[in-house]
Order: sequence, then structure tokens, then C-alpha cells
Amino acid sequence: MADLGAESPERLAAFEARIAAGEKIEPGDWMPEAYRHQLVRMISQHAHSEVVGMLPEGAWIPRAPSLRRKLILLAKVQDEAGHGQYLYHAAETLGVHRDELIAALLEGRAKYSSVFNYPPLTWADVGMIGWLVDGAAIKNQVMLAQCSYGPYSRAMVRICAEETFHHKQGKEMVLTYARGTAHQRAMAQDALDRWWWPSLMMLGPHDSDSPNTPQLVRWGVKTKTNDQVRQEFVDEHAPELLEVGLEVPDPELRFDPADGHWHHGPIDWDEFWAVVRGDGPLNAERLEARRRAFEEGRWVREAIAAHAARREATA
Ligand code: 3HC
Repeated sequence: MADLGAESPERLAAFEARIAAGEKIEPGDWMPEAYRHQLVRMISQHAHSEVVGMLPEGAWIPRAPSLRRKLILLAKVQDEAGHGQYLYHAAETLGVHRDELIAALLEGRAKYSSVFNYPPLTWADVGMIGWLVDGAAIKNQVMLAQCSYGPYSRAMVRICAEETFHHKQGKEMVLTYARGTAHQRAMAQDALDRWWWPSLMMLGPHDSDSPNTPQLVRWGVKTKTNDQVRQEFVDEHAPELLEVGLEVPDPELRFDPADGHWHHGPIDWDEFWAVVRGDGPLNAERLEARRRAFEEGRWVREAIAAHAARREATA
């Protein structure tokens, strides 16, 4: 990353004036090191989440109940791989190489979204992940599409268009099950019981426990707080789940006509932080799967490097 000069109060003030004016910060622009650090942290976690997020649903591709469902799931999982590539590219505009980020993930030093450490036990989970997990991701990513950093904001615009398809296909699948046989309805309810709370948790800790949010909001990386995005998610999904006859696994869930919002019960933050620390149901399996894929793909990377070297030598 070119050294664009030391930080000074004047430079910081000019930078913040640009943010306040709604300008996009681009890779060659001066930015505080803390701004760059925050973006690398968030974008790498986001990219890792997309790639690790392929694992829960990828496992169900060979077991899809119909060719149509298999094709839809194949397309979704391929989209997630592409999202990971966009985001690694966005991170690289900040002067970090994806090899560093991937090494951090494989060594257990990097985070990815907590939600992908939960097991998809039945085919109905695939629909519920699409409806709830991608639904939560869309709320977060529509917000990030307004991000002050140009490459991240533009990556979000492209990703949100594809996430909308992911969300719709998941909702359509759950609606089919919720209106199907008693066994199908039971499968949909079982999946909701296991994915509702992890979907609320994936949007991050309460604002009071979110050390990064104040700086991210100040510099326009986040335009909403974790709790504001979570409220948008609950307001959209709670009534729709209830409408199709499913029971949201939260006895304290209620609608308040005074403020027009759905209010959920307490989140188990001990569970959340345990999963973030690596003690979730599938954290070890997820990292092992990524390490195995990295080793199995070594020959491809070496072949590409050898081909590039030969072309350069003969150019
Ligand atoms: N999983 C893992 N770690 C989490 C987390 C989660 N769900 N939520 C928060 N954390 C971590 C943060 O990374 C931070 O740790 P760090 O400082 O060591 O990085 C710590 O907990 C404190 O949380 P903060 O609220 O202060 O952190 P942020 O301000 O970064 O907010 C966030 C958390 C809202 C997830 C934010 O990082 C963000 O918007 N990230 C980009 C979007 C993203 O990563 N989404 C993941 C899902 S992608 C996806 O779902 C793919 C789709 O196709 C299904």
C-alpha cells in the first residue's frame, strides 16, 4: 500500500469531511490506518464467511430430493464461492494479499460468521438457511452497500442481487414444506427451532457490546448498528414465519403496535461468544474442511504458477 503520508489532524478532518459529504474512499486515497485496518478485518471475515458458508449447503447437493432442487442449490453454492472471490479482491485493494488472509483462517487466527458452525441436519435446513441466514445476510449487506469504501460498497451491490435469489429460493422451499404433509411441516418447524437464534446472533453482539461499531459508524463503513439491522431482520421474518403456521422458538416474541416493531426475547450471548471463540458445534470440522480443500487444491495453484512463470520466461 503506497505510503500516502503521515496522519495529521488536518488530514483526518479532511477525510472525515469527505465521509460526511457521502464521498466514496477509493484504494489510492489517503485513509487513516485504523480505517484500513477495520476494512481488512471486516472484509476478510466476510470473504471467509462466504467460503465456509458453502460447506453446510454443499453437503446437501448430492442428497437434494429433486433435480430442480439440486440445480437451485448448485447455483446458490457457486454464487457463494464467487462472493468470496469478490470480497478477497476487495480486501486486496487495501494492500493485503488473500494468501495472508487465507493463512490466518487456516491457522485459526481469523473469524468467519458464527452461523456456519451449526449443523444442517435435514433437507428442510437448506430452505431455512436460505430464508433466515441469507435473509439476515441481505439486511447486513444492503446496509454495507452504502459503505464509504468504494470497492466494498460495489462488491455488496453485486452480491445483494444474487443473495435475493438465495433468500427467495429458501423461502419458497420452506413455504412448500409448511403447507405440505405433517411430516414436512414438522421438518420445517424443527429447522426453524435450530436456525432462528443463530440467525439473530450472526448480526453481531448488542450495540452495547460492539466495540467496533462506533468507529465503523463514524467513518461510514456501517450505516446502521448491529441492533438496528437485527431489528429489520426480525420485523420482516417473524410475521412471515407466523403467517405460514410456524412457531418462532421465542416465547417472549411480541409485536408492539406503539413502535411498530417485533420484540424478541434475550439472546444467549454466552452461546454466541463460545461459538466465536471456536467452541461451536462444528468449528473444528469447518476449519478441517478448509484445510483439506487448501491441500487438495495445492497442485492447481502450483500448476497456475508454473504456467505463468513459463509464459513470462518466453514472453
Ligand atoms: N461471527 C463471528 N464473529 C463475530 C460475529 C459473528 N456473527 N459478530 C461479531 N463478531 C466478532 C467481530 O468480528 C468482532 O471481533 P474482532 O474485533 O476480533 O473482529 C467482535 O465479535 C465484536 O463484534 P463487533 O460488533 O464489534 O464487530 P463488527 O462491528 O465487525 O460487527 C458484523 C460484526 C456485523 C458481523 C460485521 O463484522 C459485518 O458486518 N461484517 C461483514 C458482513 C459479514 O461478515 N457477514 C457474515 C455473513 S456472510 C453470509 O452470511 C454469506 C451469505 O451468503 C449467507
